[in-house]
Amino acid sequence: MNMDVISSADLMKLEDAYGAHNYHPLPVVLARGEGVYVYDVEGKKYFDFLSAYSAVNQGHCHPRIIDALNHQAQKLTLTSRAFYNDMLGKYEKYMHDYFGYDKLLPINTGVEAVETALKLCRKWAYKVKGIEENKARIIFASGNFHGRTLGVISASTDPDSTTGFGPYIPGFDVVPYNDIHALRSALDGGNVAGFIVEPIQGEAGVVVPDDNYLIEAYNLCKQHNALFIADEVQTGIARTGKLLCCDHLGIRPDIVILGKALSGGVFPVSAVLADDEIMLSISPGEHGSTYGGNPLACAVAMAALDVVRDEKLAENAEIMGEIFRTRMNSLVQKSNLVNLVRGKGLLNAIVINDTEDSSTAWDICLKLRDNGLLAKPTHGNIIRFAPPLVMTEDELHQCCDIIERTILEFVQ
Ligand SMILES: Cc1ncc(COP(=O)(O)O)c(C=O)c1O
Repeated sequence: MNMDVISSADLMKLEDAYGAHNYHPLPVVLARGEGVYVYDVEGKKYFDFLSAYSAVNQGHCHPRIIDALNHQAQKLTLTSRAFYNDMLGKYEKYMHDYFGYDKLLPINTGVEAVETALKLCRKWAYKVKGIEENKARIIFASGNFHGRTLGVISASTDPDSTTGFGPYIPGFDVVPYNDIHALRSALDGGNVAGFIVEPIQGEAGVVVPDDNYLIEAYNLCKQHNALFIADEVQTGIARTGKLLCCDHLGIRPDIVILGKALSGGVFPVSAVLADDEIMLSISPGEHGSTYGGNPLACAVAMAALDVVRDEKLAENAEIMGEIFRTRMNSLVQKSNLVNLVRGKGLLNAIVINDTEDSSTAWDICLKLRDNGLLAKPTHGNIIRFAPPLVMTEDELHQCCDIIERTILEFVQ
């Protein structure tokens, strides 16, 4: 095999032969990305309607972010936290000004940030709230997706995430999502350190809770002196039409977890934000990561957030999202194959009128690919649509035309 000129088919064979089989990608091999577009090895152009699970909100290879990466990469990339570096303090101040929390704990992947938040929540519960050692409980919502570590899968209700990976970590309780009574009973049970929740459940199929749910959940947490922790790894950074999804409801979580688009899809950068009373529960040596807060990440994250602000991506997501859902709702009228459209901003999904174990959504995604648009089912019968937020109205209409044509072709 000549590795310099190698076809999509051969590249897929290489992954199959030499890579672990922990993913089932749509058969398309991408070699280049620019803005809302990606290109496969053979040069075919596609609209990206997944944005690497909302990591590429700023569009592929945004020139300002890549410039920041290149510039910093030539100066200093990693010191570890054994020493100070000349970027971290500036970045922490930048994040304070941008999100309005006293402090930032920088880390790498989304799930590491979630783990960090859970550890922080437990420490705060023992040191500040005064829960007896090892008795703290953290409440999760069913259908959650917080990543893949043993910690977070211990609270997962998805058998694919949990089966064969036990035993699980104790101290986590799971209540039904969008059920305020269940949350109230769990809080009444005592020893609750916090409640962790996705404001919209992305991986579960873009499940949007009732408007009042999160507000009431927040108020209940306040009444019980429990921390309200928002996992905004997927919903944050303009995706849903506001900087944070919680901003739609006017609630300020005690802990905010960010990842994905914090680097604009360049490499893993994540963050935990909290005020001093919580953040200072953790002392030197109690938590960290070799790469957390590296100067390259600091430079990239500041550029990525500059782009979000300067290009008004939250505002664009809000407007484009309305247009998208209007177009998809008209598709619901035209085709009995799509029975529901839901979402906020540019985090949306359509629900296909078929059983969860059917291959219909997958087959539609294959046809969408053939027609120049890439999307992926979240569950058997749900297709998530989450394009980069730099999409223009004209491009969005082209995409809606492709989706409509594909679904209507599919019905025939
Ligand atoms: C809400 C949420 N939290 C956490 C994660 C985990 O992020 P990562 O894959 O970067 O570890 C994800 C990933 O999809 C997510 O959607």
